[in-house]
Amino acid sequence: MADPAGPLRVGLCGLGEIGQHHLRAIRDCEAAELVAVSDLDRDLAERSAGDGSASGAATTFPTSVYTEIDQMLAEEELDLVDICLPHNLHLPVALSAIEAGCHVLLEKPMAIDTESCDLIIDAAGRKGVRVAVSHNQFFYEPHVRLRQLIEAGDLGEPQSLYARLWIGGKYRGWREDAGRSGGGLLIDAGVHRVYTMLMLGGPVRSVTTVMDSPRSEDGFVVTLGFASGANGVIQGAYHGPEGIFDDRIEVLASGGVAEVRGCEAFFEGDLPDGPKLRLRLDGTWRDDPVDDAWDASVARSVDRLLTAIATGDEPEVDGQAGRDAVEVIQAAYRSAETGSTVTLGEGGQ
Ligand SMILES: NC(=O)c1ccc[n+]([C@@H]2O[C@H](COP(=O)([O-])OP(=O)(O)OC[C@H]3O[C@@H](n4cnc5c(N)ncnc54)[C@H](O)[C@@H]3O)[C@@H](O)[C@H]2O)c1
Repeated sequence: MADPAGPLRVGLCGLGEIGQHHLRAIRDCEAAELVAVSDLDRDLAERSAGDGSASGAATTFPTSVYTEIDQMLAEEELDLVDICLPHNLHLPVALSAIEAGCHVLLEKPMAIDTESCDLIIDAAGRKGVRVAVSHNQFFYEPHVRLRQLIEAGDLGEPQSLYARLWIGGKYRGWREDAGRSGGGLLIDAGVHRVYTMLMLGGPVRSVTTVMDSPRSEDGFVVTLGFASGANGVIQGAYHGPEGIFDDRIEVLASGGVAEVRGCEAFFEGDLPDGPKLRLRLDGTWRDDPVDDAWDASVARSVDRLLTAIATGDEPEVDGQAGRDAVEVIQAAYRSAETGSTVTLGEGGQ
C-alpha cells in the first residue's frame, strides 16, 4: 500500500463503455489518483492513459499502461483496483487485487452469483480491505429524493413498486455469452432495477419469475414480496422496436404516488427532457424540481465510493449491498427454472 495520508492510488481495469466514465470520474476525484490502467486493447489503454478519453491524443497524465492485470498488480503500488470488466472477470480480478492488498470497486453486478460475492467479501475481510460496488442509480438524484420521501414517511407506506426496462435492440458482444455475463438482460441492465427496488422497498423475502429463457433471457417479469409486506414487479424486455429505451420506476404508497420517468432513457435520448420525478401528494400531481443525469450519477457513484474508502468510511454501497442484488437475481433465475416461488430468509437463500 502507498502513503495512507495521500490520495488513493487507483488502477483501473477495463476501458470500454463504462470504463471511460470511471476514467474521468477517478481523475476528477480529489481523494484519488489514477496511476495505472489495464485493458487487453493496448491502443485503447494508451489513448485512455493519454488525455482521459478513448479518442484523446495528448499525454498529460502520468498513468501507466498494462494489457495484463496481474502485471499491473505486481509492478504498481496500488491502494484500490477499479473493475469495469465483463461479469465473469469480476471474481478472479477482485480476488487477485485483494490478495495484493487492494480495496476493490466493482461495476455492477458485483459478480455472477452469491457464491462469488461471498468469496470476495470473505477475502476482503481477511485482508482488511474494503469492497464497494458501483450501483450508480443509487446515487441518481430522483431516486435519492424518492428514498428520502419514503424514509421521512411523506409518501406513507409503500404498497406496490414497479420498475420497468423496455429496450429495442439487443446488447451484443460478450453480453450474448452467458458464460461471460452470467445471464441475460436481468443480470445486466436489469440489476439497476433490482437494487433500486431494494433501496426503495427494503429487503425481499420472495421472488417469483416468468422469463423467456433463463440465464440468456430477453424478457422477464420478476415479482417481489418485500419483508415489509409490500409487493414489487420488475419487468424487462429487449423486444421493442429499434431505438426504444424506456426505463421508469413507480411507487404506490398509502399516502401518495411517485413516478421516476427514466434515468437511462433521458441519457439515451429517448425521452425529451422534462420532469424526472412526479409526485401525487395531498390529492394533486406535482413535478419535483430535482434534476440529474445518468452520466452524472455514474461520476457521483465513483467519487462517493472512492472518497469513502479514502477517508476510512464504509462505502454507501458495500459488498453486502452488491450481494443482496445478486441474491435476488439468482433467486429469479431459480424461480424461472423451477416454476416455483423462491423464498429468501434473513440469512439468504
Ligand atoms: N453502470 C452502468 O450503467 C453500466 C453501463 C455499462 C456497463 N456496465 C458494467 O460495466 C462492466 C463493463 O461493461 P462495458 O459495457 O464497459 O464492457 P465493454 O465491453 O465496453 O468493456 C470491457 C473492456 O474490458 C476489456 N477487457 C476484457 N477482458 C479483459 C482482461 N482480461 N484484462 C483487461 N481488460 C479486459 C475489454 O477490452 C474492454 O475494453 C460490466 O460489469 C457492465 O455490467 C455498467
